[in-house]
Amino acid sequence: MNVRQAMIAALPIAIWAMTVAAEPAAETRVERGRYLTIVGGCNDCHTPSYAETGGKVPASDWLVGSQIGFQGPWGTTYPANLRLLMQSMSEEQWVARARTAMRPPMPWFNLRDMSDEDLRAMYQFIRSLGRKGEPAPAYAPPGQSVSTPYFYFVPQNLPQQAARAAR
Ligand code: HEC
Repeated sequence: MNVRQAMIAALPIAIWAMTVAAEPAAETRVERGRYLTIVGGCNDCHTPSYAETGGKVPASDWLVGSQIGFQGPWGTTYPANLRLLMQSMSEEQWVARARTAMRPPMPWFNLRDMSDEDLRAMYQFIRSLGRKGEPAPAYAPPGQSVSTPYFYFVPQNLPQQAARAAR
């Protein structure tokens, strides 16, 4: 076999190696998803005590949703249990859901602008955590009182309010 023949013979292997390299291993995707979930701030609202403890919550308790609502002009919303959600959706459904508008204070526009690849990695990570916890309480429309604890998410003491109060 001359050099040229040897190169041609090795070509399929080179192509195969390139394909394998382009496809990230499952483990790498989960790791990437974990990273994106952390820096994307998802735990801040969807993991109880995460923000209050500076992130000192084990991953086994992450993203189970919150029983504490956010109340504002939109009504009262509760950060969803993403552990249950991911088990109930396919990867395709997740990518579509992540691009759909949600109520405040969910920063849905940040999810919308993530690449498909990043959204898929996030799905793989959250799904790998498994099923845990209860679904979050149902959304309550504006004016409906709720029996759960909630944060009142309306700016206070705005300049015009302060001026009115001073009069
Ligand atoms: C500031 C708090 C906050 C942050 C940060 C946040 N969320 Fe949310 N999220 C919410 C609230 C509140 C809701 C419920 C919105 C509603 O009822 O429409 C919600 C809803 C959702 C839903 C819809 C669930 C369903 O049942 O369809 C998804 C998906 C979601 N969040 C994913 C994420 C991900 C992923 C991140 C990180 C990139 C994130 N959220 C960051 C507060 C937050």
